[in-house]
Amino acid sequence: MRISIGSDHAGFEQKQALAAYLVEKGYDVIDRGPDSDDRVDYPDFAAPVARDVAEGASERGVLVCGTGIGMAMAADKVPGVRAANIINSEFAALCREHNDANVITLSGRFVSLEDNERILDTFLATEFGGGRHEGRVEKIMSLD
Ligand code: RB5
Repeated sequence: MRISIGSDHAGFEQKQALAAYLVEKGYDVIDRGPDSDDRVDYPDFAAPVARDVAEGASERGVLVCGTGIGMAMAADKVPGVRAANIINSEFAALCREHNDANVITLSGRFVSLEDNERILDTFLATEFGGGRHEGRVEKIMSLD
């Protein structure tokens, strides 16, 4: 599976560590930056990751900022993207099962790297449930 990843300065350290974690697990990772922890604006890094997913260059996107909130707001503006800001493994499973989320946004300031690794494991391992959720997701996408 190919995964695009990006961050801002607040998520940079965890982005680097999570990208290495994903490579180690055998995923094909596209790192959309940044390349340092210099202060940047999170929408500039949400956009390329979200576009990768929307255009099919990647199957999933991972974005890390201070809270994950701004990244989710920015990524969800790109048609075709369903980004979810996730801070625990239960929600990581549910955003896949119920919402077919294709981008996960994580907090680099309020969630530990170890917890974000578990969250990411769950996000990547969980399939969309389909069934009654399918029509609801279609209705979300009709808002694009
Ligand atoms: C940067 O200070 C911070 O606002 C950003 O990383 C993120 O948390 C925004 O949602």
